[in-house]
Amino acid sequence: MFTNVEHIGIAVRSLTDGNALFTKLLNVAPYKSESVESEHVSTSFFQVNQTKIELLEATDPASPIATFIQKKGEGIHHIAFEVDDILAEMERLKNEGFTLLNETPKRGADNKLVCFLHPKGTSGVLVELCQEISEL
Ligand code: CO
Repeated sequence: MFTNVEHIGIAVRSLTDGNALFTKLLNVAPYKSESVESEHVSTSFFQVNQTKIELLEATDPASPIATFIQKKGEGIHHIAFEVDDILAEMERLKNEGFTLLNETPKRGADNKLVCFLHPKGTSGVLVELCQEISEL
């Protein structure tokens, strides 16, 4: 079951600049910064009440974020939905004809197991499913 929008991911060229900008915009400092080696990204997270924003910067040219910025520039990269059972949702969505970008959940930032859906099947929106690891 989908429970809520967990965060919105925004691709930035520079995490330093992005952190400064979003600190000014949201009037709150990031609560976490974290590198995800497997994705070749550095991330930071902001929270305002129940709303989280994830900034993503590529750490090398092989990063999906580098490719995204090259094609589209900075901007909204993905919408992440919290789910209560990621394996069940992956199975359900696969049966509904959506294309999973990873066949097994992988470890994402902010203590989550994540799976991405191919944007071709979701009106061009990269969708992330995530589940808090401590909930498993
Ligand atoms: Co995310």
